[in-house]
Amino acid sequence: MIQALRGMKDIIDDGYLYKHIIKTCENVALNFGYTFIETPKLEETSLFRRSVGESSDIVGKEMYEFLDKSGTSVCLRPEGTAGVVRAFIEHKFDRAGGVRRYFYHGSMFRYERPQKGRLREFHQFGIECFGEESVYEDASVILIGAEILRRLGVKSTLKINSLGDSECMPKYRQKLVNFLNDIKSGLCDDCVRRIETNPIRVLDCKNEHCQNLLKTAPLITENLNDVCEAEFKKLGEILKSNGINFEVDPKLVRGLDYYCKTAFEFVSDEIGSQSAVLGGGRYDKLVEYLGGKPTYGVGFALGVERLMEIIKTKEFKNPRDGIYLCALDDKFIDEIYSLGLKLRKNFKVEISYEAKNPAKHLKSADNLNAEIFLCIGEEEHKNGEIWYKNLTTSSDKKIKIKELKEVLDVK
Ligand code: HAM
Repeated sequence: MIQALRGMKDIIDDGYLYKHIIKTCENVALNFGYTFIETPKLEETSLFRRSVGESSDIVGKEMYEFLDKSGTSVCLRPEGTAGVVRAFIEHKFDRAGGVRRYFYHGSMFRYERPQKGRLREFHQFGIECFGEESVYEDASVILIGAEILRRLGVKSTLKINSLGDSECMPKYRQKLVNFLNDIKSGLCDDCVRRIETNPIRVLDCKNEHCQNLLKTAPLITENLNDVCEAEFKKLGEILKSNGINFEVDPKLVRGLDYYCKTAFEFVSDEIGSQSAVLGGGRYDKLVEYLGGKPTYGVGFALGVERLMEIIKTKEFKNPRDGIYLCALDDKFIDEIYSLGLKLRKNFKVEISYEAKNPAKHLKSADNLNAEIFLCIGEEEHKNGEIWYKNLTTSSDKKIKIKELKEVLDVK
């Protein structure tokens, strides 16, 4: 028996939940001026090495990377930002200037150890805004995330940090390296390795002993230059005045190397230990780094499966939808079949080809989660009528077939 690979899942029974999440995300993103973009799932490996960063776990340990038949090193995308930036540059939007905003959703691949809310193929919904320097855009990106989670009924804590810019970050990094070298003998192997490769990642080591030693580490928030500090303060003010609560977490560094200034995560403890459901930040150097003209960038991505896990525990019920159309006798099947085809021009219709008694039909309609039950029997046929039952409101009546469309439109 061939089974799905470890860490990869079929979305079947909770397909409605998946769709509901994507639809909600899209609606919010559209209101903020974002448009749809789709980029390939397979890209040249070097794209991720250069953007996500050689020292990140994603590139170092988790990439689905292989040689294609022409010997090119390719990789299933571990995240969406790099591909969108590649497309942005390839289509010369960096040279055109102006502000562009994109949203996307689809599969991402990371060879991680699977557990609840952590898969090897998972889905993200993400947004990326190019060409906007204003910190109001950072706030908008966070507000989009907050609004999506609010509409989905997901409770979470927003953590924000500033990672500084190319002036203050290197100075801070050196200060941190000096500190880490002093406590090196007590740190775990991963942290010791990271002092060389990516010292700020040491700050979010999960090891309790390391965290104890890190209590007195210098913090980026205390080492920002004036511009970064003022922007970070302004970001907090915008969020506060628009009703968004947050915690400043100076140890929030994110697992991808391309961030500068704003970094943020919405974390939830509804899927076991605290885990990020949505994360993002600013990446003002990435377009240039991948060969484009310097262009500001800011965005986020959320994990669809993580949200599905949370919403499922709240017994989210798919709202009833569509029509179940049936007959009580075989001789009316042709009639309901033709009627169903007409209705399908405007409505979702399930036609039953089998004559059954009313109770059985009602049960089938309920199982299919239909909203409207329509049925023709001897009496209805004789009177040019149809039996109409709204399974949400329980409204139950006979209506003239010729008035059916009108009744359905108003439900
Ligand atoms: P990320 O934090 O690596 O950021 O991933 C975003 C979200 O994807 C996470 O918060 C989490 O919900 C979900 N996720 C990550 N890994 C897994 C996994 N193995 N299984 C299930 N869900 C997972 C990024 O990917 C950036 N590209 C976000 C971004 C966009 N930054 C700027 N623009």
